[in-house]
Amino acid sequence: MPIRWDYKFFTLVIMKKIIFYFLILVIISSCAKQKEKDETMNSATSRKWWKEAVVYQIYPRSFKDTNGDGIGDLKGIISKLDYVKSLGVDVVWLNPIYGSPNADNGYDISDYRSIMKEFGTMQDFDTLLKDMHEKGLKLVMDLVVNHTSDEHRWFKESRKSRDNPYRDYYHWLPAEKGKPPFRPGAFEADGSGWRYDSVTNSYYLHYFSYKQPDLNWENPKVRQEIYKMMNWWLKKGIDGFRMDVIPFIAKDTTFPVITQKILDEKYKGRWDIYLASGPHLHDYLKEMNKEVLSKYDIMSLAEGAGMTKETALNFVDEDRHELDMGYHFDGVSLGYIPGYFKKMDPNWSLVEFKKIYSDWDAVYKDKGWGTIYLGNHDQPRMVSRWGNDSPEFRAPSSKMLTTFLLSMRGTPYYYYGDEIGMTNAKFDKIEDYRDIETLAAYEKVKLAGGDLKQFIEDQKTGGARDNGRTPMQWDTSENAGFTTGTPWLKVNKNYKEVNVAKEDKNPNSVLNYFRRMVKLRKENPVLIYGAYHLLKGDDPNIYAYTRTLDNEKVLVLLNFKDHDVDMQLKELKGSHQTLINNYKSVNVKEDTITLKPYQAVILSLN
Ligand code: NOJ
Repeated sequence: MPIRWDYKFFTLVIMKKIIFYFLILVIISSCAKQKEKDETMNSATSRKWWKEAVVYQIYPRSFKDTNGDGIGDLKGIISKLDYVKSLGVDVVWLNPIYGSPNADNGYDISDYRSIMKEFGTMQDFDTLLKDMHEKGLKLVMDLVVNHTSDEHRWFKESRKSRDNPYRDYYHWLPAEKGKPPFRPGAFEADGSGWRYDSVTNSYYLHYFSYKQPDLNWENPKVRQEIYKMMNWWLKKGIDGFRMDVIPFIAKDTTFPVITQKILDEKYKGRWDIYLASGPHLHDYLKEMNKEVLSKYDIMSLAEGAGMTKETALNFVDEDRHELDMGYHFDGVSLGYIPGYFKKMDPNWSLVEFKKIYSDWDAVYKDKGWGTIYLGNHDQPRMVSRWGNDSPEFRAPSSKMLTTFLLSMRGTPYYYYGDEIGMTNAKFDKIEDYRDIETLAAYEKVKLAGGDLKQFIEDQKTGGARDNGRTPMQWDTSENAGFTTGTPWLKVNKNYKEVNVAKEDKNPNSVLNYFRRMVKLRKENPVLIYGAYHLLKGDDPNIYAYTRTLDNEKVLVLLNFKDHDVDMQLKELKGSHQTLINNYKSVNVKEDTITLKPYQAVILSLN
């Protein structure tokens, strides 16, 4: 008998143990499942302030002038912070404001620790930063470290002699070895990225103008100087950097000959892809992350020149600890006619446009994080290029493009003036242009005996950067309220029609639509984190997609044409609610929607 009791007791103990271990197993496996779920939620859904932010880009030279010299300044930005705040945006990216002789409007820095005299003083900067933070706005600076100005102290030293301690801060090749193998110099009429300097009978490298010599990142001293400078700004409290042509910093210093064949076979025939393939690029970005970026809660954005769908994650996969985001050029390169300087094909294809943005969304499906933009200081105005800037359609098409920008996955970068639907400058003569790139391109056409009149015409719809750099249109007063002096670049002729004062008062204006759209994005995480799915990719007129997050699903419909268009979609069959519409009504019959010219609607499908 006792044996039986012992046996029962024994079985009970064993059973208890089994249950205990079973429970442990269940807990472990559910933790593992949760982990797996977290991982599949991955970067695309892991929350970060910079993923949820709307970034507003200010070109300081053109925003607001307070001292009457015709050039925007920091005090001007300070005076307009309530306006910026009223937009609902979170972050302001400022184009370079450092000491500079302005060969390329600040992208040629002569002193990284000072403020450009036209823009004000360091005290003004400190006030700006403080005021922005008080208003809950973050400030992102431009970081231009692929090159400096040729008037930077380092370069002045470097060019003095072949054994100057700063010689290796830049890339020099002795002229006695002959002209170095071709590298492109984007802002030179002869297209060459090497400049002969008689002082030391040598050539130096410059991927942009000869006033912008490339720094030698292969020299550890250069890298340390840059990290020190970045830490200095971050300690001041800035919230991040937009990094100018950062993929170009690393160079193969053997400077091999790159033939057209090599370019075609290895770099899709594109110089920018070659320039973005320097051997130690990612070592430097990792080092920069370790020595600088990882120490602060900030955002970093690569200007992704030469960055492709295949290489993008090398920059922004969080496991690699390099940068947070990059912006690609595939979208803004669409529609330029080969063989011309940024001449736009008016019949660019919406099907291709959709494919580009859909393919790029897929790049960041599981890892990393993308960005979305249609205009910036290097591009023509978005409404003139992707919408329709005629008086009839300027407003609806601006609103439609705003709907696109603020309903895609990826952090939106929105360029000053687009919120009121500013249009291309469309200058009639070369004398009105100020931009080094356009002037060099003009010179090139001239040297080749090309059609200069046609060049000027092409730039009205094409890529002249000054199209998007004209002064902000505040009101109907002289010079659109930008300056009491003579503006550095002519104000757009339409400022009496298109300006903040007028649009502020009108609840249906482009400006107030932008504010509504920013608010809608903020209130609906599905617009930020939701999975993107393209519908009817082959439709040549309408861009349609859904965004889905958990049980939320929205349908975005954008008519890119100047006439009514129908689309049949099974998604329209169920019940839906209009979240935003740039017209008064929306015409849905059963499963078919008719969109008016440039109509944009977002429907909630829940
Ligand atoms: C890219 C900048 O956005 C552009 O404005 C500048 O001219 C070049 N990099 C050179 O710094």
